[in-house]
Amino acid sequence: MRDLPIARDIAQLRARVAAWRRAGDSIGLVPTMGALHDGHVALADRARAENRRVVATIFVNPTQFGPGEDLGAYPRDEAGDVAKLIAAQCDLLFAPSADAMYPAGFATSVQVAELTQHLCGAMRPGHFTGVATVVTKLLLQAMPDRAYFGEKDFQQLQVIRRLAADLDIPAEIVGVPTVREPDGLALSSRNRYLSTAERAVAATLPRLLREAAAALSSGAPVDATLRTATARLVAAGFSKVDYVALCDGARLQPLDHPVAGSRLFAAAHLGRTRLIDNWPVA
Ligand code: PAF
Repeated sequence: MRDLPIARDIAQLRARVAAWRRAGDSIGLVPTMGALHDGHVALADRARAENRRVVATIFVNPTQFGPGEDLGAYPRDEAGDVAKLIAAQCDLLFAPSADAMYPAGFATSVQVAELTQHLCGAMRPGHFTGVATVVTKLLLQAMPDRAYFGEKDFQQLQVIRRLAADLDIPAEIVGVPTVREPDGLALSSRNRYLSTAERAVAATLPRLLREAAAALSSGAPVDATLRTATARLVAAGFSKVDYVALCDGARLQPLDHPVAGSRLFAAAHLGRTRLIDNWPVA
């Protein structure tokens, strides 16, 4: 098996990328927090198909976790991740330390307005500022032609598209469709927290989203449909529902009727695991 070079600091990353640039190679960036699954592999596959070189990043970014969230418990398995990245034919792993990313005196953050007002932005204060800051740094460190993010984190994807456009970062931001288990559950590194009983309940989330989306497309009233979906999640065993919401897909503002490109979004807790998902409403 071939091995995978690992850059541990920004200078090593830049030296590799600069050599590829001199050779005329295009570069695809796949930012992750590790604990890789087939959803990440889909990002790497798409990057491989569209670029000469693929750089994956693994950095569990402390600034996007709130107090009481799972930063300490977040799954870490660099050896397992490296094997998956080699199988996905990545050319370089950038796995910096927290000190390399946030040296003493670090004082800058990137805040994206409007898109972060609702959904996870409202439920996890500061989360998207942490995401936007670290992704801005990764884009400026690697200067890729394209960077790849999953549609499961649809709000995150829109935030990253906005910051790249607003800050004139010359990378195309590519959204990749959600990869799902056979029963519909969206792949997530956090799924490994689920107990067997919780895992059996988890697939209710995508099923109810799909059913609610179909009801809305056939003209069902929005308020009642969202309320019913919330009640059914609780009845199925979800301990807490953060939101079930209909929003437009571009600005992520709540809607009282479906429009072209609108989506249903949900976040709900099963024990200590918070699941999110979204579904288009035709
Ligand atoms: O989606 C993720 O894994 C993270 O939010 C990201 C984009 C790598 C930033 O830390």
